[in-house]
Amino acid sequence: MATLEVVLGDITGEDVDAIVTAANESLLGGGGVDGAVHRAAGPRLAEAGGAIAPCGPGDAKVTPAFDLDPPVKHVIHTVGPVWDGGAYGEAEILASCYRRCLAVADEIGARSVAFPAIATGVYGFPAKQAARIAVRTVRETPTKVERVRFVAFDEETYELLSAELA
Ligand code: APR
Repeated sequence: MATLEVVLGDITGEDVDAIVTAANESLLGGGGVDGAVHRAAGPRLAEAGGAIAPCGPGDAKVTPAFDLDPPVKHVIHTVGPVWDGGAYGEAEILASCYRRCLAVADEIGARSVAFPAIATGVYGFPAKQAARIAVRTVRETPTKVERVRFVAFDEETYELLSAELA
């Protein structure tokens, strides 16, 4: 059973084995957290991502972390659902992102993983519902990961995730 923590900060500064980026299907990078991770990891991240793309919504794929500082060795790219009102399976796709990221972490032997608030930015997923899905899914997914850190980039997300953890 992993220990779950919530922190407020920039995921590119996390000291974990693997960080998760909220990508798009091309895995070539973008804005938001994906932009920050690609800037920190350098241009090889987009080359490696492009070579294993596409990554479907709810799926996750892994690449090396390239220029990201140790101990980060892996970037797990996951593609969240674009929020379209909630009646198109968005919640299940988001839950799948967390499940698949943990499964990929187990495949690569990562014992600590940092997650951003997947899909709650550009993709428009309501932050409160997304926080509930994130914490519940990680709690109920069997994994060898020992430490999961939810990295909030703003106070509201931090409060929502903290409330779900309480
Ligand atoms: N560290 C941690 N979290 C961050 C950072 C950062 N450096 N930068 C942004 N975030 C947060 C946002 O505040 C938001 O809460 O990540 C969360 C996810 O927002 P987005 O990055 O917009 O991701 P998403 O909503 O999943 O949209 C993905 O945006 O950047 C493009 O290529 C990406 O097309 C894809 C889409």
